[in-house]
Amino acid sequence: MKLHISALLLLLGIAIAIPVTQAEEAAPAASAAKKAKTDLEKAMSTIGRANRQLKKQIKDASKNESSLELVAKLREGAEASLKLIPAKAQDLPADERDAFTSKYKASMKDFLAGVSKLEADLKANDNAAADADLKNLNSQEKDGHKAYRRPEKE
Ligand code: HEM
Repeated sequence: MKLHISALLLLLGIAIAIPVTQAEEAAPAASAAKKAKTDLEKAMSTIGRANRQLKKQIKDASKNESSLELVAKLREGAEASLKLIPAKAQDLPADERDAFTSKYKASMKDFLAGVSKLEADLKANDNAAADADLKNLNSQEKDGHKAYRRPEKE
């Protein structure tokens, strides 16, 4: 009888272990898929890093040289973004994609115009204007993401 109980416990152990192992195998695959970045996400990350640092120092005229280098990064990211198409385009009916992409490109061109204004104001050492320019770019980010970014699935 004692032997039978051990055999039963062993079977129970296996029954529990199998689904746990399967779940562990499935988890890394799911997170790997989540991590694969689109080219547009990579370009946006360049913009994101430069923007974060610019926010910290935009008012400080003694840092304008470094701020101008960060503005060059904003431009680099935005010019790369202009050549790409948001992932959300694939979720739309085929006959809406061209209009969506044209609007996206127009918004990205506006963003680039704002980057040029920011550059000019920094070159003129007008940090109050540069601060306002950066705020403007950040409100374009909000609108851009609302219109063109795929909503989170989770
Ligand atoms: C200061 C301005 C901006 C910042 C800091 C910014 C930052 C970001 C970041 C951090 C991501 C996510 C990247 C990732 O998942 O790794 C992203 C995604 C995205 N952003 Fe921006 N962004 C800005 C402006 C804009 C503008 C102006 C537009 C549109 C005209 C835009 C359109 C998008 C789109 C469509 C995505 C999703 C990427 C895809 O579809 O593959 N962003 N952005």
